[in-house]
Amino acid sequence: MQTHQYDAIIVGAGGAGLMAALYASKGGANVAVVSKLYPTRSHTGAALGGIGAALGNLDEDKPLWHAYDTVKGGDYLADQNAAKVLAENAVDAVIELEHMGLPFDRTPEGRISQRRFGGHTSNFGEKPVRRACHAADRTGHMILQTLYQQCIKNDVKFFDEFHVVDVIMNQGACVGVVAIQLGTGEFHVFHGKATLFATGGWGRVWRITSNAHSLTGDGAAVVYRRGIPMQDMEFFQFHPTGLYGLGVLLTEGIRGEGGILLNKNGERFMEKYAPKIKDLASRDVVSRSIYLEVRDGLGIGGKDYVHLDIRPSTVNRYLAEAGETRRVDDAYIARALAETLDVCRTYAGVDPLTEPMPIQPTAHYAMGGIPTNVDAEVVMDENWTVLPGMYAAGEVACVSCHGANRLGTNSLVDLVVFGRRGGIKIAEYVKGADLIPLPANPAGEIEAEFKRLRTSKGKTRAYELRKQMQKVMMDNVGVFREESAMKEAVKQVQELRERYQTDLAFDDNGYQYNTDLMEAWELGCLLDLAEVTAISALNRTESRGGHSREDYQKRDDDNWLVHTLAYRKSEIAYPVTPPEVELNINKKVDMSLADEDPRFLPKERAY
Ligand code: FUM
Repeated sequence: MQTHQYDAIIVGAGGAGLMAALYASKGGANVAVVSKLYPTRSHTGAALGGIGAALGNLDEDKPLWHAYDTVKGGDYLADQNAAKVLAENAVDAVIELEHMGLPFDRTPEGRISQRRFGGHTSNFGEKPVRRACHAADRTGHMILQTLYQQCIKNDVKFFDEFHVVDVIMNQGACVGVVAIQLGTGEFHVFHGKATLFATGGWGRVWRITSNAHSLTGDGAAVVYRRGIPMQDMEFFQFHPTGLYGLGVLLTEGIRGEGGILLNKNGERFMEKYAPKIKDLASRDVVSRSIYLEVRDGLGIGGKDYVHLDIRPSTVNRYLAEAGETRRVDDAYIARALAETLDVCRTYAGVDPLTEPMPIQPTAHYAMGGIPTNVDAEVVMDENWTVLPGMYAAGEVACVSCHGANRLGTNSLVDLVVFGRRGGIKIAEYVKGADLIPLPANPAGEIEAEFKRLRTSKGKTRAYELRKQMQKVMMDNVGVFREESAMKEAVKQVQELRERYQTDLAFDDNGYQYNTDLMEAWELGCLLDLAEVTAISALNRTESRGGHSREDYQKRDDDNWLVHTLAYRKSEIAYPVTPPEVELNINKKVDMSLADEDPRFLPKERAY
């Protein structure tokens, strides 16, 4: 077993991990990034349409308006101090990316180009605003490339294809992680003063998802198994426009450029549900509207999808109807939405310049995750008690700036803003902190768990269990929810975990790149997160943002302006049974903006 020692260990090499690594190293820390993927394959690369910042390059804009949209979009569950930090820090974070060399699209005057996105408005909801700064529809990809280059320049050490499988605690602090080197199957211990988790989301819990195969929530699951709570897990966003049948993301930037959602009768149905900003309402609203159309038999050909139309003739007709002077043509769409055209032609055989795209809502983003403060320090309870040495940023973290529903483009903002703040905080912390020693045999338990898995002599392949979990979560804990269906989901997920413990079969017993084994391990993580999601959702007896209950259709601000903290109650982390989840709903939502300005007080959300 090899042990590596660094001041700071960053787990995950997406935008948040890279930004944290960059800033920790700039602050003088000796930094290792440990990632199960090669860094530029991280899922930040799949964020397409833009990064929101109130630059005001094309329309008047202000960070306070961005904060307002974020709080309203989050259905008033966002911690308002965090939304304020997000919106204010977004401006210089984007300019910093530009200075690092990120190739943003430009206005004719040479400024960063900005486009409309869902829920982005000026003057407290008055009208749509162009706030999403973009590099065609490959913005996340460009961020990833830019930050990776900066990290290399700054001598950050990368351990690529090292899959983190446990977190090491000692003396009440986090002192590192255990990882498996995928190429050899060997265990490695990474020992440090500070560890930051930036491992992304867990969209693979659901059947239709925009998330890559690798988005299995390992970072969240391993810390959860060691006693760290999961916050607001009931809130998982369904992006309205996934490619039908596959879930692959078709960017909201399509609607930002003028794309229109149409039902089988060719009706622009969002006029019914969000009369003011129509197709550009927040994602929860648009996803529900699509489900309602389908439920009313208005899906295309009676099926469970609708159309998204970006053909210039359609876009120009609606632009003219809205009294706008802007017009688009094939060349403009091909340039601004190059990735969209490529994806639709390749995966659906549909050319968006001549045909509407078939779309359905797709599981996209975890609003919940590891609770942190605005400096990416992990907090353990409603008193904001900081866990020394442990940090989290990006999708795996719940700051909570997104509340019950994240606005489009705010994930990229979150990555760079809170990744940077985490990196700065880590650099400060490691200067003053002593290195806490490793406990005896730090990898012992997890090695035993892998041995148990590897030698399992059951009959079921991991993918079969995964398929069943994804189906029940999609059907029972999806866009619309209701008590008996969620109870059934909890029961089925627990049964699946039982089978996971006792009945797994493997075809590959080798050590090098044993994806059979690693995917089974990932399934265990998904099952834990699916269970916490369903239990947290069952407990929240209201509808808010991405959590929409048929049996409790109203938002209940009297009782539910609180975050859910879910703890795994068990003395032992492995094996992962018996499951016991304890919920705490005492963490109140921060209302600091509303304290100064009544426009931030919760009210009916109309778009
Ligand atoms: O629609 C999109 O381009 C996705 C962006 C996001 O999730 O923020």
